[in-house]
Amino acid sequence: MNLPPSAQLQLTETGELRHFLSIDGLPKTLLERILDTANSFVVVGNQEVKKVPLLRGKTVVNLFFENSTRTRSTFELAAQRLSADVLNLDINTSATSKGESLLDTLRNLRAMHSDMFVVRHSQSGAAHFIAQQVTPNVAIINAGDGRHAHPTQAMLDMLTIYRHKASFDQLKVAIVGDILHSRVARDQVHALTTLGCQDVRLIGPNTLLPTAAEELGVTTYNDLDKGLEDVDVIIMLRLQTERMDSAFLPSASEYYQAYGLTRQRLCKAKSDAIVMHPGPINRGIEIESEVADGEQSLILNQVGYGIAIRMAVMSMAMSGQMQQRQIMEANQ
Ligand code: NCD
Repeated sequence: MNLPPSAQLQLTETGELRHFLSIDGLPKTLLERILDTANSFVVVGNQEVKKVPLLRGKTVVNLFFENSTRTRSTFELAAQRLSADVLNLDINTSATSKGESLLDTLRNLRAMHSDMFVVRHSQSGAAHFIAQQVTPNVAIINAGDGRHAHPTQAMLDMLTIYRHKASFDQLKVAIVGDILHSRVARDQVHALTTLGCQDVRLIGPNTLLPTAAEELGVTTYNDLDKGLEDVDVIIMLRLQTERMDSAFLPSASEYYQAYGLTRQRLCKAKSDAIVMHPGPINRGIEIESEVADGEQSLILNQVGYGIAIRMAVMSMAMSGQMQQRQIMEANQ
Protein backbone atom coordinates (compact mmCIF):
# COMPACT_ATOMS: atom_id res chain seq x y z
CA MET A 1 0.00 0.00 0.00
CA ASN A 2 1.24 3.49 -0.87
CA LEU A 3 0.57 5.34 2.40
CA PRO A 4 2.49 8.09 4.25
CA PRO A 5 4.79 6.79 7.07
CA SER A 6 2.47 8.08 9.82
CA ALA A 7 -0.37 5.95 8.41
CA GLN A 8 1.87 2.91 7.81
CA LEU A 9 2.83 2.84 11.48
CA GLN A 10 -0.85 2.56 12.41
CA LEU A 11 -1.75 -0.28 10.05
CA THR A 12 -0.93 -3.96 9.67
CA GLU A 13 0.59 -5.29 6.45
CA THR A 14 -2.96 -5.96 5.20
CA GLY A 15 -4.22 -2.46 6.06
CA GLU A 16 -6.01 -3.21 9.35
CA LEU A 17 -5.79 -0.74 12.23
CA ARG A 18 -3.27 -1.73 14.93
CA HIS A 19 -2.57 1.65 16.59
CA PHE A 20 -4.76 4.76 16.39
CA LEU A 21 -2.48 7.79 16.50
CA SER A 22 -3.80 10.43 14.08
CA ILE A 23 -6.19 10.67 11.14
CA ASP A 24 -3.54 12.08 8.80
CA GLY A 25 -3.02 9.74 5.85
CA LEU A 26 -5.56 7.07 6.86
CA PRO A 27 -7.63 5.84 3.92
CA LYS A 28 -11.28 6.81 3.49
CA THR A 29 -12.41 3.17 3.55
CA LEU A 30 -10.88 2.72 6.99
CA LEU A 31 -12.56 5.87 8.37
CA GLU A 32 -15.87 4.63 6.97
CA ARG A 33 -15.35 1.25 8.60
CA ILE A 34 -14.69 2.93 11.95
CA LEU A 35 -17.93 4.92 11.55
CA ASP A 36 -19.98 1.83 10.63
CA THR A 37 -18.52 -0.21 13.49
CA ALA A 38 -19.14 2.62 15.97
CA ASN A 39 -22.65 3.11 14.66
CA SER A 40 -23.42 -0.51 15.49
CA PHE A 41 -22.08 0.03 19.04
CA VAL A 42 -24.31 3.02 19.83
CA VAL A 43 -27.15 0.68 20.87
CA VAL A 44 -24.97 -1.13 23.42
CA GLY A 45 -25.42 1.86 25.73
CA ASN A 46 -29.21 1.33 25.70
CA GLN A 47 -29.10 -2.39 26.42
CA GLU A 48 -30.03 -3.92 29.75
CA VAL A 49 -26.53 -5.42 29.93
CA LYS A 50 -24.19 -2.81 28.46
CA LYS A 51 -21.46 -5.24 27.41
CA VAL A 52 -20.09 -7.12 24.42
CA PRO A 53 -17.29 -9.69 24.80
CA LEU A 54 -14.83 -8.42 22.15
CA LEU A 55 -11.98 -7.56 24.56
CA ARG A 56 -12.65 -10.26 27.15
CA GLY A 57 -9.41 -11.32 28.80
CA LYS A 58 -7.50 -8.27 27.48
CA THR A 59 -5.90 -5.61 29.65
CA VAL A 60 -6.27 -1.93 28.76
CA VAL A 61 -4.23 0.71 30.62
CA ASN A 62 -5.36 4.33 30.67
CA LEU A 63 -2.30 6.57 30.86
CA PHE A 64 -3.38 10.19 31.18
CA PHE A 65 -0.40 12.50 31.70
CA GLU A 66 -2.70 15.51 31.18
CA ASN A 67 -6.08 16.38 32.74
CA SER A 68 -9.23 15.00 31.25
CA THR A 69 -12.80 14.28 32.31
CA ARG A 70 -14.87 13.24 29.26
CA THR A 71 -12.13 11.54 27.29
CA ARG A 72 -10.72 9.51 30.17
CA SER A 73 -14.09 8.38 31.49
CA THR A 74 -15.48 7.49 28.05
CA PHE A 75 -12.35 5.47 27.25
CA GLU A 76 -12.79 3.65 30.55
CA LEU A 77 -16.47 2.94 29.86
CA ALA A 78 -15.70 1.87 26.30
CA ALA A 79 -13.10 -0.65 27.50
CA GLN A 80 -15.49 -1.95 30.18
CA ARG A 81 -18.32 -2.29 27.66
CA LEU A 82 -15.97 -4.38 25.53
CA SER A 83 -15.40 -6.57 28.65
CA ALA A 84 -11.69 -5.69 29.01
CA ASP A 85 -9.89 -5.45 32.34
CA VAL A 86 -9.11 -1.76 32.77
CA LEU A 87 -6.31 -0.20 34.76
CA ASN A 88 -6.37 3.57 35.30
CA LEU A 89 -2.90 4.63 36.20
CA ASP A 90 -3.00 7.69 38.41
CA ILE A 91 0.07 9.54 37.20
CA ASN A 92 0.06 11.91 40.19
CA THR A 93 0.51 9.06 42.67
CA SER A 94 2.47 6.68 40.39
CA ALA A 95 6.23 6.16 40.27
CA THR A 96 6.40 8.69 37.43
CA SER A 97 6.02 11.34 40.12
CA LYS A 98 8.97 9.72 41.95
CA GLY A 99 11.18 10.41 38.95
CA GLU A 100 10.67 7.19 37.00
CA SER A 101 10.89 7.95 33.29
CA LEU A 102 7.95 7.44 30.94
CA LEU A 103 9.93 4.68 29.23
CA ASP A 104 10.48 2.78 32.46
CA THR A 105 6.82 3.13 33.42
CA LEU A 106 5.80 1.73 30.04
CA ARG A 107 8.28 -1.14 30.21
CA ASN A 108 6.85 -2.12 33.60
CA LEU A 109 3.32 -2.01 32.28
CA ARG A 110 4.34 -4.15 29.31
CA ALA A 111 5.89 -6.64 31.72
CA MET A 112 2.43 -6.95 33.29
CA HIS A 113 1.19 -8.24 29.89
CA SER A 114 -0.90 -5.19 29.03
CA ASP A 115 -2.52 -5.36 25.59
CA MET A 116 -3.41 -1.72 24.98
CA PHE A 117 -2.29 1.71 26.20
CA VAL A 118 -4.59 4.72 25.90
CA VAL A 119 -2.23 7.70 26.09
CA ARG A 120 -2.83 11.41 26.65
CA HIS A 121 0.27 13.57 26.85
CA SER A 122 1.08 17.28 26.63
CA GLN A 123 3.96 16.60 24.20
CA SER A 124 3.05 16.40 20.51
CA GLY A 125 4.26 13.07 19.13
CA ALA A 126 4.20 11.17 22.46
CA ALA A 127 1.82 8.44 21.23
CA HIS A 128 3.71 8.00 17.94
CA PHE A 129 6.97 7.70 19.84
CA ILE A 130 5.58 4.99 22.10
CA ALA A 131 4.10 3.03 19.19
CA GLN A 132 7.26 3.27 17.12
CA GLN A 133 10.06 3.02 19.66
CA VAL A 134 8.77 1.59 22.91
CA THR A 135 5.95 -0.92 22.69
CA PRO A 136 5.06 -1.63 19.04
CA ASN A 137 3.27 -4.85 20.01
CA VAL A 138 0.95 -3.12 22.46
CA ALA A 139 -1.92 -1.31 20.67
CA ILE A 140 -1.49 2.44 21.30
CA ILE A 141 -4.54 4.69 21.16
CA ASN A 142 -3.81 8.42 21.14
CA ALA A 143 -6.19 10.26 23.48
CA GLY A 144 -4.65 13.66 22.61
CA ASP A 145 -0.99 14.69 22.23
CA GLY A 146 -0.03 18.34 22.66
CA ARG A 147 -1.56 20.37 19.85
CA HIS A 148 -0.92 17.59 17.31
CA ALA A 149 -3.75 15.03 17.13
CA HIS A 150 -6.87 13.74 18.88
CA PRO A 151 -8.20 11.12 16.48
CA THR A 152 -10.97 9.60 18.62
CA GLN A 153 -12.43 13.07 19.24
CA ALA A 154 -12.37 13.82 15.51
CA MET A 155 -14.03 10.48 14.71
CA LEU A 156 -16.75 10.94 17.34
CA ASP A 157 -17.43 14.31 15.73
CA MET A 158 -17.67 12.55 12.34
CA LEU A 159 -20.07 10.00 13.84
CA THR A 160 -22.24 12.85 15.13
CA ILE A 161 -22.35 14.39 11.64
CA TYR A 162 -22.89 10.98 10.00
CA ARG A 163 -25.90 10.23 12.21
CA HIS A 164 -27.52 13.66 12.00
CA LYS A 165 -26.75 14.90 8.47
CA ALA A 166 -26.60 13.88 4.81
CA SER A 167 -23.47 12.44 3.21
CA PHE A 168 -20.22 14.31 3.81
CA ASP A 169 -19.75 15.51 0.22
CA GLN A 170 -22.90 17.65 0.40
CA LEU A 171 -22.00 19.46 3.62
CA LYS A 172 -20.62 22.87 4.52
CA VAL A 173 -18.78 22.66 7.84
CA ALA A 174 -17.46 25.57 9.93
CA ILE A 175 -14.83 25.07 12.65
CA VAL A 176 -14.68 28.18 14.81
CA GLY A 177 -12.19 29.57 17.32
CA ASP A 178 -8.71 28.65 18.43
CA ILE A 179 -7.70 26.45 15.50
CA LEU A 180 -3.98 27.12 15.95
CA HIS A 181 -3.67 25.35 19.30
CA SER A 182 -6.30 22.69 18.66
CA ARG A 183 -5.33 19.06 18.17
CA VAL A 184 -9.03 18.41 17.61
CA ALA A 185 -9.33 20.82 14.65
CA ARG A 186 -6.29 19.32 12.95
CA ASP A 187 -7.73 15.80 12.97
CA GLN A 188 -11.23 17.08 12.13
CA VAL A 189 -9.87 18.69 8.97
CA HIS A 190 -8.11 15.46 7.94
CA ALA A 191 -11.24 13.42 8.66
CA LEU A 192 -13.66 15.79 6.87
CA THR A 193 -11.54 16.15 3.74
CA THR A 194 -10.82 12.39 3.58
CA LEU A 195 -14.52 11.60 3.95
CA GLY A 196 -15.26 13.85 0.96
CA CYS A 197 -16.39 17.15 2.50
CA GLN A 198 -15.83 19.86 -0.14
CA ASP A 199 -16.46 22.97 1.96
CA VAL A 200 -14.56 23.13 5.26
CA ARG A 201 -14.19 26.61 6.76
CA LEU A 202 -11.80 27.58 9.54
CA ILE A 203 -13.02 30.74 11.27
CA GLY A 204 -11.08 32.81 13.77
CA PRO A 205 -8.77 35.80 14.20
CA ASN A 206 -5.54 35.59 12.20
CA THR A 207 -3.57 35.05 15.41
CA LEU A 208 -5.48 31.80 16.01
CA LEU A 209 -5.45 30.42 12.46
CA PRO A 210 -2.63 28.20 11.17
CA THR A 211 -0.51 29.89 8.49
CA ALA A 212 -0.69 27.21 5.78
CA ALA A 213 -4.38 26.33 6.28
CA GLU A 214 -5.22 26.47 2.55
CA GLU A 215 -2.76 23.63 1.89
CA LEU A 216 -5.09 21.42 3.92
CA GLY A 217 -7.89 22.00 1.40
CA VAL A 218 -9.92 24.37 3.58
CA THR A 219 -10.95 28.04 3.42
CA THR A 220 -10.23 30.54 6.20
CA TYR A 221 -12.41 33.41 7.41
CA ASN A 222 -11.84 36.17 9.94
CA ASP A 223 -15.47 37.28 9.85
CA LEU A 224 -17.73 34.87 11.74
CA ASP A 225 -20.97 36.11 10.15
CA LYS A 226 -19.56 35.55 6.65
CA GLY A 227 -18.05 32.20 7.50
CA LEU A 228 -21.29 30.86 8.98
CA GLU A 229 -23.38 31.70 5.93
CA ASP A 230 -25.43 28.69 4.85
CA VAL A 231 -23.39 26.09 6.78
CA ASP A 232 -24.85 22.72 7.88
CA VAL A 233 -22.49 22.05 10.78
CA ILE A 234 -20.84 24.42 13.27
CA ILE A 235 -18.04 23.09 15.47
CA MET A 236 -17.02 25.49 18.23
CA LEU A 237 -13.63 25.21 19.95
CA ARG A 238 -12.37 26.31 23.36
CA LEU A 239 -9.63 28.91 23.68
CA GLN A 240 -6.66 26.69 24.60
CA THR A 241 -5.10 29.24 26.94
CA GLU A 242 -2.85 26.56 28.48
CA ARG A 243 -1.04 26.34 25.12
CA MET A 244 -0.73 30.10 24.54
CA ASP A 245 2.73 31.36 25.40
CA SER A 246 1.90 35.02 24.70
CA ALA A 247 -1.12 37.27 24.18
CA PHE A 248 -3.08 36.01 21.17
CA LEU A 249 -6.23 37.97 22.03
CA PRO A 250 -7.14 41.39 23.42
CA SER A 251 -9.58 39.97 26.03
CA ALA A 252 -12.16 37.21 26.51
CA SER A 253 -15.05 39.67 26.20
CA GLU A 254 -13.75 41.09 22.93
CA TYR A 255 -13.29 37.57 21.68
CA TYR A 256 -16.91 36.78 22.54
CA GLN A 257 -18.05 39.93 20.70
CA ALA A 258 -16.29 38.81 17.54
CA TYR A 259 -16.37 35.00 17.69
CA GLY A 260 -18.93 33.91 20.29
CA LEU A 261 -21.76 31.81 18.88
CA THR A 262 -24.94 33.61 19.88
CA ARG A 263 -28.52 32.83 18.83
CA GLN A 264 -28.44 35.81 16.52
CA ARG A 265 -25.31 34.55 14.79
CA LEU A 266 -26.63 31.02 14.53
CA CYS A 267 -29.33 32.42 12.19
CA LYS A 268 -26.64 32.94 9.52
CA ALA A 269 -26.28 29.17 9.20
CA LYS A 270 -28.92 26.86 7.64
CA SER A 271 -32.05 26.67 9.79
CA ASP A 272 -31.35 22.97 10.51
CA ALA A 273 -27.63 23.46 11.19
CA ILE A 274 -26.22 21.42 14.07
CA VAL A 275 -23.95 22.87 16.76
CA MET A 276 -21.09 20.83 18.21
CA HIS A 277 -18.25 21.36 20.71
CA PRO A 278 -15.67 18.83 22.01
CA GLY A 279 -15.95 20.24 25.54
CA PRO A 280 -15.17 21.56 28.01
CA ILE A 281 -17.35 24.51 26.98
CA ASN A 282 -16.87 28.02 28.29
CA ARG A 283 -20.26 29.69 28.33
CA GLY A 284 -20.12 33.37 27.46
CA ILE A 285 -16.63 33.05 25.95
CA GLU A 286 -17.05 30.91 22.82
CA ILE A 287 -20.73 30.05 23.08
CA GLU A 288 -23.93 31.56 24.47
CA SER A 289 -25.73 29.36 27.00
CA GLU A 290 -28.94 29.46 25.00
CA VAL A 291 -27.13 28.00 22.00
CA ALA A 292 -25.21 25.41 24.02
CA ASP A 293 -28.46 24.17 25.57
CA GLY A 294 -30.63 24.87 22.52
CA GLU A 295 -32.34 22.38 20.26
CA GLN A 296 -29.71 22.60 17.51
CA SER A 297 -26.98 21.63 19.97
CA LEU A 298 -25.63 18.05 19.90
CA ILE A 299 -22.93 18.71 22.50
CA LEU A 300 -24.19 16.06 24.94
CA ASN A 301 -24.97 13.55 22.17
CA GLN A 302 -21.29 13.79 21.21
CA VAL A 303 -20.28 12.42 24.61
CA GLY A 304 -22.33 9.23 24.12
CA TYR A 305 -21.02 8.79 20.57
CA GLY A 306 -17.54 9.06 22.06
CA ILE A 307 -18.04 5.76 23.86
CA ALA A 308 -19.15 4.04 20.63
CA ILE A 309 -16.20 5.41 18.63
CA ARG A 310 -13.74 4.38 21.34
CA MET A 311 -15.25 0.89 21.44
CA ALA A 312 -14.84 0.69 17.65
CA VAL A 313 -11.19 1.75 17.48
CA MET A 314 -10.20 -0.29 20.53
CA SER A 315 -11.74 -3.49 19.16
CA MET A 316 -10.36 -2.89 15.65
CA ALA A 317 -6.84 -2.10 16.91
CA MET A 318 -6.82 -5.13 19.17
CA SER A 319 -7.75 -7.48 16.37
CA GLY A 320 -5.16 -5.80 14.09
CA GLN A 321 -2.44 -6.34 16.71
CA MET A 322 -3.41 -10.00 17.08
CA GLN A 323 -3.38 -10.47 13.33
CA GLN A 324 0.05 -8.80 13.04
CA ARG A 325 1.40 -11.06 15.79
CA GLN A 326 0.19 -14.14 13.91
CA ILE A 327 1.85 -12.94 10.68
CA MET A 328 5.13 -12.35 12.55
CA GLU A 329 4.98 -15.77 14.25
CA ALA A 330 4.25 -17.47 10.92
CA ASN A 331 7.29 -15.72 9.37
CA GLN A 332 9.68 -16.81 12.14
C1 NCD B 1 -10.37 18.60 23.75
C2 NCD B 1 -8.93 18.28 24.10
O1 NCD B 1 -8.60 17.84 25.19
O2 NCD B 1 -8.12 18.49 23.21
N1 NCD B 1 -11.32 18.12 24.64
C3 NCD B 1 -11.66 16.82 24.76
O3 NCD B 1 -10.91 15.92 24.47
N2 NCD B 1 -12.91 16.57 25.21
C4 NCD B 1 -10.56 20.03 23.48
C5 NCD B 1 -10.31 21.00 24.58
O4 NCD B 1 -9.69 20.69 25.59
O5 NCD B 1 -10.74 22.15 24.42
